[in-house]
Amino acid sequence: MRLIVCDNQQEIANVGADMIAEVVAANPAAVLGLATGSTPVPMYQELIRRYEAGKLDFSSVRSVNLDEYYPLAPDNDQSYRYFMNHQLFDHINIDKNNTNVPDGLAADPAAACKAYECIIRDLGGIDIQVLGIGGNGHIGFNEPAEALDPLTHLTDLTEDTIKANSRFFESEADVPRCALTMGIGTILSARRIMLIATGEAKAKAIATVLSGKLTTFCPASMLSLHNDVTVICDRAAVSLCDEATIAALS
Ligand code: PGA
Repeated sequence: MRLIVCDNQQEIANVGADMIAEVVAANPAAVLGLATGSTPVPMYQELIRRYEAGKLDFSSVRSVNLDEYYPLAPDNDQSYRYFMNHQLFDHINIDKNNTNVPDGLAADPAAACKAYECIIRDLGGIDIQVLGIGGNGHIGFNEPAEALDPLTHLTDLTEDTIKANSRFFESEADVPRCALTMGIGTILSARRIMLIATGEAKAKAIATVLSGKLTTFCPASMLSLHNDVTVICDRAAVSLCDEATIAALS
């Protein structure tokens, strides 16, 4: 695991965008694993800037998103499909037919989850997976629990996550109680992983991740099983890590 501690949001956005640009330069038809949430937004804005400046071409890029609320229609303005369109896809030259988000209206969610795994496999796997992290250590909607699911699955959201995400909804009651999410194994199958974390609310989870110990009660800790993970943080997110750990990973 590699750690990059940045001084501000723009530096994080630049480091993340550099990694994506490197992957797309190596393979113009790369498969990007993308994430929603507020954390990756500055990086998406940087990718848009680079596209507008003629430095990045997404015309052959494919994408798969981590998760989607269930049940929720793709055109609902709280859906992750809507988020991706508005925060990134509508502003770059990616072909929307090449973008994949789990189907929040699937009549048979178990079949939709299986089909999502097939989509990822048929694309040839994920070249780089972008991740945020919950204050509770979740990645995607893999919530802390006694046991974790390896593959894409339907899951209940924890009360913590419903509370945290209610800031985007009119009220807490409007937050869907379930989601479709890639599993921990799906995420770990990506060739490279980038985890971005900012703010003190993520400090405890990041300290657990950087400790290198595995616990299902911090699902992101499973990233220690992967051999190409870059954690990009601000100083607040590493405020509970000791200097020796930071130095060893930097
Ligand atoms: P955030 O969400 O980027 O909005 O903090 C991250 C997450 O919950 O995975």
